[in-house]
Formats: sequence, C-alpha cells, structure tokens
Amino acid sequence: METLYAVIDEKNPDMEQIKKAGEIIKKGGLVAFPTETVYGLGGDALNPESSKKIYAAKGRPSDNPLIVHISRMEDLYRIADPVPELAVKLAEAFWPGPLTMILKKKSIVPEETTGGLETVAVRFPSHPAARLFIEAAGGFVAAPSANISGKPSPTLASHVKEDMEGRIEMILDGGAVGIGVESTIVDLTDKEPVILRPGYVTKEMLTKVAGQVEVDRTILQGDAAGKPKAPGMKYRHYAPKGDLTIVEGKQEDVIREINRLCAEKKAAGEKTGIIATEKTAELYAADSIKNAGDREKEETIAQNLYRILREFDEEGITVIYSEAFPADGIGQAVMNRLLKAAGHHKIMV
Ligand code: TXA
Ligand code: MG
Repeated sequence: METLYAVIDEKNPDMEQIKKAGEIIKKGGLVAFPTETVYGLGGDALNPESSKKIYAAKGRPSDNPLIVHISRMEDLYRIADPVPELAVKLAEAFWPGPLTMILKKKSIVPEETTGGLETVAVRFPSHPAARLFIEAAGGFVAAPSANISGKPSPTLASHVKEDMEGRIEMILDGGAVGIGVESTIVDLTDKEPVILRPGYVTKEMLTKVAGQVEVDRTILQGDAAGKPKAPGMKYRHYAPKGDLTIVEGKQEDVIREINRLCAEKKAAGEKTGIIATEKTAELYAADSIKNAGDREKEETIAQNLYRILREFDEEGITVIYSEAFPADGIGQAVMNRLLKAAGHHKIMV
C-alpha cells in the first residue's frame, strides 16, 4: 500500500489534507496523526474492522484495548454510560489534554476496540491538528501510539514513517510532539479513581480535583506486584534493541560506575550508549552519549526519551546505561517508561 504523507502546520492547517485524512477513516482506513503526547495510529473507533486493522498494522495482541479519541465533550455521552460527576470534573480540569479516563462503555463501541472489555478508554486531546482530524473523521478515533508493538512510541513523524510506511493509508506530520510520553490513564469504574499509567497529569494534579486517588501497584514495582489493570502495561514496552540498565545513587558514584561498566563492556566487544543529562554528559566515555535534558526540568527528559531510545537502535548500540531520575511530577512517568524499557533492570551504587 502506498502511504500518503502530509505536513500539517499547526497555526495554519491545510484543511484539504485534514479532510482527506478524515475520509480515509470514514472508509475504514488508517491514518497516523500528531497529538500533544505521542503520535497516534487512528481508525474509526465504532468500526470493528478498523480496530482489527490497527492491531494488524502494529503487530499488537488484540486483548490490548485502544483509546477512543473525541473532539467534543458532548461526544463522551455517546460512548460512555454512566458518566459520573467525577469524570465531568476531571474533564473540566484537564480536557482537552493528556488525560485518558476509563468508563463503562455503551454498546455502540465494539468489543474489537476495547479488547473485549466492558469499559472504554476516552481521551480528548488538545493538539489542534488532532482535534480537526478527529472531527473530520466523524468524531470517534481509536488510536494507540503509532509504533510497531514493543518499540518506543513515536515523538516525530519520521518515527511513524519508519514503523508504518506501507502499512497505513496516510501520515499527518505535525512536527515534534510537545510532551513526549503517553497520556495519564485514570480508571473511574471503581469506588476510588485509580491511576493505571502515569503521565503529564500527575497524581498531585488529579488529587486536587478528585480528592483521594490511588496508583496501580504495578506501575513502579513491575510485574512482581501482580497483574496491571491496563492490559497494555503488562507487555514489555518501549524497548530499545540494546540491553538497558538504570544506575541509581549519588551523582559522582553513578558517573564512576557507568564509566567503569562501559569500559568493561567495550573491552568485551559491545557498542555502548549512555543516557546522561545536560550537566553530566561531558563526564562520560562511551560510543554514544545522549543528553536527555535538564534534570531540574524533567519535562525536557520526557520530550527526548523515546527519540534517544530509537537513535540507539539506529546506531547499533548493544548495551545502554541510564542515570535514574526523581520519580515525582512528570518524573514518575519518565521513570515508569524507563524501567519498562529496561525490563526493570536497575542497579544501586
Ligand atoms: O497519549 C496517549 O494516550 C496516546 C495517544 C496516541 O493518544 N495513546 C496511547 O495508546 O498511548 P496505547 O494504545 O499505546 O496505550 C493505551 C493503554 C494501554 O496500556 C491499554 O491497555 C490501556 O491504555 N487501555 C485502553 N483501554 C483500556 C480499558 N478499557 N481498561 C484499561 N486499560 C485500557
Ligand atoms: Mg503504546
């Protein structure tokens, strides 16, 4: 299949191209599009055949449900029932934006979209091109991240092209995404709201609106804590090809240990990579050293993380060491993704 490609300028979007993308979705095809978190791989959420195509294009297990993206608050009531008061409050506070809510689904949403579950994940993104595209597509776009299953989520259209060229009808290129990690997922079907996946909207931000908020135990502890409630969180995600280890401790100890490990691995014939930060990057020796951003501004690390993991793959890096980051604020999402990418392999120095 030939994949159409259109560059969309956020300030002055080409409505011809957006309309074309919308028509593709209405006819049952797939279009990748930018959102404020990561690129999505969109299909008609109300068409079971479209959802099957999404699983096939990603190579994703079909028991892993998709998020339904909407572009108008009133459309929430067409797919979810009941819509509890708390969902309305959270929507008022964080929509449009990087928050996904799990609610009971209406029968209009096919089981193919929800991986057989009676609940549906709903998100109203803030990215202007995403909103126009969802509207043009009929209002309900099922979209996982637009990567091949198991690879880091795409934060640039070139990542999408790498994974999806020839597999989908169209790619909308909106440039680099703003946030860089996927939306926060909160389950509202239990007595208490539960965070199933940390993201830009933090527990503290949710607590201010919702009062008590729980965090799924599996998020920072990994599989040992049991079965995650978001089926997708059980898969080894976000994985680079190289063997990734996180090193945690006092900064000078971390730098010394990473340099020692890299020298040892290099001598053994491995190609080494390091995820460092602005202030530490020049203190390391390895084949590839990446500056992930400013430790004091962890949102910069969120923006760069997935791109860096993909770059290591392109460079043929076989062993990767990363500094650890404080797990508060957006740092919780960063550490959650990094730990998953590392298969929870962390050493303390
Ligand atoms: O930021 C995002 O959320 C991006 C952009 C494209 O919107 N999308 C995204 O989708 O990250 P995906 O499919 O890569 O991740 C969706 C996660 C999976 O872990 C899935 O298991 C979980 O949401 N999920 C979806 N529906 C669910 C449901 N009904 N109950 C529990 N978890 C659900
Ligand atoms: Mg994903």
